[in-house]
Amino acid sequence: PGVRVELAPEIDSTNSELMRRARAGSTQPVLLVAERQTAGRGRRGRAWQADPGDSLTFSLGLPLAPREWSGLSLAVGVAVAEMLHPAVGLKWPNDLWVGGHKLGGILVETAGTGEALRQAVVGVGINIAPRDGAGLSTPPAALRALWPQAQAGEVLLRVAAPLARALREFEQAGFGAFVERYRARDLLWDTPVTLSDGRLGTACGVSGSGGLLVHTAAGTLCVTSEEVSVRPA
Ligand code: BTN
Repeated sequence: PGVRVELAPEIDSTNSELMRRARAGSTQPVLLVAERQTAGRGRRGRAWQADPGDSLTFSLGLPLAPREWSGLSLAVGVAVAEMLHPAVGLKWPNDLWVGGHKLGGILVETAGTGEALRQAVVGVGINIAPRDGAGLSTPPAALRALWPQAQAGEVLLRVAAPLARALREFEQAGFGAFVERYRARDLLWDTPVTLSDGRLGTACGVSGSGGLLVHTAAGTLCVTSEEVSVRPA
């Protein structure tokens, strides 16, 4: 079946909506675009705020049956970053950053009881125009700094099909197929980091399952985004 495209003028969260449908048993591939979210969500329970008209906010929901799920959100980050601009980097696990500021984020969720086939919900939020960074630790980046004429609709057209292709590629070959592409945009490469559990080290790439590799005094660790968050040391 083809992907159904839906536009919501206002919704709580495109991810929440597609997760509700998935939990109710829907396996329909859907691209849901919102002009405004009233309860946009980020990773680790954080809120995602964006100004209507000045941002691109959508989720793609579709059934997926990879052999291994780990690394899916990093693969999505690679696919999206590649379609935006060469200067867009990835901050592990899958934030989009430009020039030291956050440009966008990705929230991947899955619904379903079977290990094999689940409904994947891939949410993407990208700041198109500069916006108020009040309350954020650093002001957000805007895509127009790199791509002056960028419009949300045009960016969506550019990103959606390659994203769907990347999900199929991930299903076939896992994150291993994306590791080199991730490296090319890895902003943490060779930088000192502090893990949320207090350990210190130097980031040295990502593993074939999407974990962050960190050189520490005790050896090289591979940490997952479920276990820890990282910040520059
Ligand atoms: C993050 O930075 O932690 C991830 C942000 C993800 C935001 C997008 S906007 C579309 C989709 N719907 C949501 O509620 N969140 C994602």
